[in-house]
Amino acid sequence: MPTPTPETGPEPARDCPICPRLVAYRAANAAANPAWFNGPAPSFGDPAARLLVVGLAPGRQGANRTGRPFTGDHAGVLLYATLAKSGFARGAYDPNGDDDLALVDCMITNAVRCAPPGNKPETGEEASCRPFLSARIAALPRLKVMVTLGDVSRRNVLKALGLKASAGLPGHGTEFRAGPYVVLNSYHCSRLNTNTGRLTPAMFEAVFERARTLLDD
Ligand code: URA
Repeated sequence: MPTPTPETGPEPARDCPICPRLVAYRAANAAANPAWFNGPAPSFGDPAARLLVVGLAPGRQGANRTGRPFTGDHAGVLLYATLAKSGFARGAYDPNGDDDLALVDCMITNAVRCAPPGNKPETGEEASCRPFLSARIAALPRLKVMVTLGDVSRRNVLKALGLKASAGLPGHGTEFRAGPYVVLNSYHCSRLNTNTGRLTPAMFEAVFERARTLLDD
């Protein structure tokens, strides 16, 4: 497993300059919507978490607006409801983040921390942001289980651990070991996947119930 370089902490600077395309997109969003967060959305949750949920990247009007992963995104409604059902969240969820939501034994982060145009980060941006994911994982001393939301998340988690992207199984509900961790894959809880029925609430809940079982073992 790679040791993050000492200067790479688990969270990018508020004005992280690393990815020119994402910086330009952030600047355009800030010019159009100065009241929005418009920066790398910091990981959210319990610093003693045993469960890490890894998303793709902030949505422009979601985490990029509110500054909290999945907050204000369509995907956040199902994610936070499901976390609450399986005991990994408590409190109310508000799409503007004006709430008392707290994660319990759980943290949420993104493979890429800045909103990408069209919700699609480039592979070079994934690579540039990956040291933060490695550092985020390394900074969770009790971490046991990671839930990856979609292929980009799964591949980046594997690479962040110094493994090949092909080292894990793709698909929904698949499970494998990666170093000291168990990885559980889920389809991303995006609007496309939920509206088409590719991912149902029951399928999503099953992933977090499995995480609960693994942590309780
Ligand atoms: N919002 C996030 O923060 N991450 C995603 O992957 C999708 C929406």
